[in-house]
Amino acid sequence: MTTAHHPATGPAAGAAGSATGECGTTVWLTGLPSAGKTTIARAVAERLRGTGHRVELLDGDETREFLSAGLGFGRADRHTNVQRIGFVAELLARNGVMALVPVIAPYADSRDAVRERHEANGTPYVEVHVATPVEVCSVRDVKGLYAKQAAGEISGLTGVDDPYEVPENPELRIRTQGRSVADTAAELHTFLSERGLA
Ligand SMILES: Nc1ncnc2c1ncn2[C@@H]1O[C@H](COP(=O)(O)OP(=O)(O)O)[C@@H](O)[C@H]1O
Ligand SMILES: [Mg+2]
Repeated sequence: MTTAHHPATGPAAGAAGSATGECGTTVWLTGLPSAGKTTIARAVAERLRGTGHRVELLDGDETREFLSAGLGFGRADRHTNVQRIGFVAELLARNGVMALVPVIAPYADSRDAVRERHEANGTPYVEVHVATPVEVCSVRDVKGLYAKQAAGEISGLTGVDDPYEVPENPELRIRTQGRSVADTAAELHTFLSERGLA
């Protein structure tokens, strides 16, 4: 589960100038609810800020309140949600910001469209699959969604009764089961550092 086929894309990949913040990167953390996307993004953001990077978090829960207000959870609206967030992330990254995006993004074609937007603009893009099995996520159940779905109070929960298309070739796949937050955050931070992106 540690395959990473895509090279980090964009002109700053491995370039010396990137560490000075001349060009940012979008780091998209995709995965099931309660996989650990927000937790890892926040921990990495803290580390990056500590070394002088400009960092923004575009968290799915927050962006849905304003940027994607009114959108639902059907396929088309989920796609639109991801494109809007991807648009903003690319603008930020193009202007030297490390844009960390902990957003489920369940559909591969939506994620690929965001990647292509970055590639078209020469903006570095890193897809991270936070690969926590649904059995583990449903025990964590940070927001109580798995319990609500099981009780029949909600439907359309990603990974349970709504699709999640597992990324086939993410730049990085992080397992979180049985690992500390510090450990998984360090894995992502090290990945970015080694590629000259952080
Ligand atoms: N190694 C780990 N990495 C990230 N989160 C972890 C890890 N181990 C346990 N957790 C816990 O899993 C939960 C993940 O919640 P959250 O980050 O909100 O998920 P998501 O944003 O993917 O819905 C948190 O309570 C976090 O403390
Ligand atoms: Mg989250």
